[in-house]
Amino acid sequence: MSGVFSPTRAKIDKRTLRTDKWWLEPAITFGVLFSFVIYATFRAFEGANYYAEHLISPFYSPCLSEACVPEATMFGWTPVSAEIFNFALSPALIILIFPLGFRMTCYYYRKAYYRSFWMSPPACAVAEPHKTYTGETRFPLIIQNSHRYFFYAGLVLNVILTYDAVISYRNAAGEWGHVSVGSLVLTLSAAMLWLYSLSCHSCRHTIGGRLKNFSKHPVRYKMWSWVSVLNHSHQRFAWFSLAAVAFADIYVRQVASGAWTNFYFFQRTLKNHDSRT
Ligand code: FES
Repeated sequence: MSGVFSPTRAKIDKRTLRTDKWWLEPAITFGVLFSFVIYATFRAFEGANYYAEHLISPFYSPCLSEACVPEATMFGWTPVSAEIFNFALSPALIILIFPLGFRMTCYYYRKAYYRSFWMSPPACAVAEPHKTYTGETRFPLIIQNSHRYFFYAGLVLNVILTYDAVISYRNAAGEWGHVSVGSLVLTLSAAMLWLYSLSCHSCRHTIGGRLKNFSKHPVRYKMWSWVSVLNHSHQRFAWFSLAAVAFADIYVRQVASGAWTNFYFFQRTLKNHDSRT
């Protein structure tokens, strides 16, 4: 026996002595994350309703497949063949590994899903059901150490999604000043993703780590101080950004399928032209 049941630990036969609702938080986390995974999987395989009126879903950007709606591509760049392994690849599946890997290896989400999905442990002072513990020293959990690389990839995606948000303020003729609910939804989604990335622990380490002293690096110290402030709210940004990205996708899907009308606060005269570039 190991863990809390190992010979050197106090002999307590109950799983926990806690009397509060310690199971509530992991249960809610499980419900929300599981719902998001189901929805994201459905959307990733749907391969449709991801572009409408200069709005592209964050699940499908950048759209790199030859199967992409032409207006949804970046500068018409489609390096991935539409037919891979004899099935039509949804454009979302090409890029999914990066946002998925970033979230799956996030230090906060690790805590969240280790507790809610694996119950390892489910809460403080509640014994886990597992008999052995190897931490993140073996496959597959050793992959968690790749988080910093997913962080770099996430920054690239953030730039692209910010670009998507900016060009959603143009009309079909390429004129600026085209403000709709969809533009604001994409802007909020991009802003939340930046806050999530900039508050990341790897970001904090990239900026202020591996220094012997801060006094010789005043600029990095200043940036580290700012990131440290954001870092305090990383958990909050993790949930806000998840909700914002999910809602941005839902919004674009609803507009693209014709279920919702994208409301315009301001719209300039349209000319006979349509391009995202
Ligand atoms: Fe959460 Fe890096 S620690 S994104």
